[in-house]
Amino acid sequence: MMYLTLLILPCLAAVTLGSNPGIQVALTNKGLQYGARVGADLLQTKITTVPIPQVSGSVSLGPLGSVQYALSEMKVVKVNLPLPTVGFSEGTGVKADLSGLNIAVSGRWNTHYHIIRDGGTFDLAVFRIGTDSVVKLGSDSKGHLSVSSVQCSSSVGDIQISFHGGASFIFKSFVKYFKPEIQSKIQQNICPLFEESIQDVEKYLAGMKVSFQVTPTLLIDMPLVSPPMVQTSNLNLSFKGEFYDVKKHTEPPFVADPFQLPQQDGFMVSLGMSEFTLNSATFAYFSGGKFQINITDKMIPPESPIHLTTTSFGAFVPQLPQMYPNMQMLFHVYATETPMFSFLPDNVTLSLSASAKAYVIEQNSSLVPVFRLDTNASFSGRFLLEGGKLKGSLMLNNVTLTLGASEVGTFQTGTLQYMLRMAMNVAVLPKVNEKLKAGIPLPAIGHVQWVNSMLKVKKGFVAVATDANVSYEG
Ligand SMILES: *[C@@H]1O[C@H](CO)[C@@H](O)[C@H](O)[C@H]1NC(C)=O
Ligand SMILES: *[C@@H]1O[C@H](CO)[C@@H](O)[C@H](O)[C@H]1NC(C)=O
Ligand SMILES: *[C@@H]1O[C@H](CO)[C@@H](O)[C@H](O)[C@H]1NC(C)=O
Ligand SMILES: *[C@@H]1O[C@H](CO)[C@@H](O)[C@H](O)[C@H]1NC(C)=O
Ligand SMILES: *[C@@H]1O[C@H](CO)[C@@H](O)[C@H](O)[C@H]1NC(C)=O
Ligand SMILES: *[C@@H]1O[C@H](CO)[C@@H](O)[C@H](O)[C@H]1NC(C)=O
Ligand SMILES: *[C@@H]1O[C@H](CO)[C@@H](O)[C@H](O)[C@H]1NC(C)=O
Repeated sequence: MMYLTLLILPCLAAVTLGSNPGIQVALTNKGLQYGARVGADLLQTKITTVPIPQVSGSVSLGPLGSVQYALSEMKVVKVNLPLPTVGFSEGTGVKADLSGLNIAVSGRWNTHYHIIRDGGTFDLAVFRIGTDSVVKLGSDSKGHLSVSSVQCSSSVGDIQISFHGGASFIFKSFVKYFKPEIQSKIQQNICPLFEESIQDVEKYLAGMKVSFQVTPTLLIDMPLVSPPMVQTSNLNLSFKGEFYDVKKHTEPPFVADPFQLPQQDGFMVSLGMSEFTLNSATFAYFSGGKFQINITDKMIPPESPIHLTTTSFGAFVPQLPQMYPNMQMLFHVYATETPMFSFLPDNVTLSLSASAKAYVIEQNSSLVPVFRLDTNASFSGRFLLEGGKLKGSLMLNNVTLTLGASEVGTFQTGTLQYMLRMAMNVAVLPKVNEKLKAGIPLPAIGHVQWVNSMLKVKKGFVAVATDANVSYEG
């Protein structure tokens, strides 16, 4: 057992530690400041619904004994939340300092003094609350982001409290004893409350999915492959970013190369996607047998100069109409290798290898194989982001076509190769380019809208730098 573990461990380590990220995301200081503003705005609108735990204790009245008290049913009635000062804490996470928070709370009070019970309502104003906190960012074994509070201190400038109801006219003389007690209770409760809410966030993160289905056939695996890297001016997250077929988890025969995101301090967020991520998607489709289609003459537009009949194909294969006069044909077209994208500066190249197996369709609909054509094609394109849409253009670099096998004897393929090139340039690419010119909208994430986005194709990866606009309703 021990030996087995020793054998397996290095392999596991190689799998988890050796893999380069397919997707990297960097949050800049500009993004952090915007995030803090959005967070503060949201908190300002939500804080009045936050339940406040009951506060209880006792106040000593010297020789007169002590009064037990409880403050309950507290509600925030007004808050003025200043913008927190946030920043990256190098090697750790994020630090946030808040000062000058004022808050007004109303609730019920109850006291218990010897046999006297009393109660009523109160209004409490807490002035100049300040907190200093540092949250550490990390990752767990499953690749979730993790958060923990590593530092918190709090202060309260002053409070004002007024009690109503009960025998409060007697009570009023004791307020001076209550005030310091309640002020220190509030101050002591701030950090535990903060830590509790960080633990809630941690629980939420630990329960998040790291794999998402994106199409009926594809899912993307997005665990963190290393803990977040926090520097003085940014925070980098490295995700696996690998697509799989939903049914089978096959690793492609290629791996992700390392890449370095360019520094983009003028934007809130930078995102880099390696060609590996895109190619893992084409591999998943390919290995799932998705890149194949059967083409019959019904699918060919009537105006096409070539039809899928032995008569029409006689122009290229003279012996075909002699052996199979006046018959319909079927072409089984399939990728023979994974279609691969490669990213070069300002250039995305797509390489395709496909075969077309030709059949003659007999009267009784059985298929007779006649020949197989092999083609390699290479396309290249330029892409950009404009008005929140991915736009671009694609062109054919070259295409080759050769005869792979034949049951009807050999024939020349030069004209067929020419016709294929024509079909690409005249029929296929103009349609694709029309779509690319109109643009493909970027996927929105929740209430986040991407603005001022910029895309740059680099060697091995594509980098997107963008600002975000979060819309939220009160
Ligand atoms: C983090 O991302 C920035 C881009 O914003 C980049 O300049 C920096 O090199 C990255 N750091 C690491 C350790 O990858
Ligand atoms: C296409 O036709 C071939 C030959 O009959 C068959 O084996 C294959 O399953 C068909 N493929 C599709 C996608 O219809
Ligand atoms: C279909 O017809 C051809 C001859 O026309 C014959 O060779 C073949 O066996 C037939 N196939 C079936 C399934 O009947
Ligand atoms: C396609 O490319 C492969 C290697 O990538 C080569 O072996 C094959 O001969 C090429 N076929 C054609 C039709 O050019
Ligand atoms: C494209 O043409 C070049 C030579 O012009 C050749 O080296 C390359 O293999 C061709 N690519 C394909 C996909 O056939
Ligand atoms: C992209 O690069 C390929 C290979 O270097 C080249 O053949 C092609 O012309 C380039 N395309 C564009 C649009 O620059
Ligand atoms: C952000 O969105 C709001 C509407 O939700 C809009 O008024 C504002 O102009 C947008 N800001 C930018 C920079 O696009």
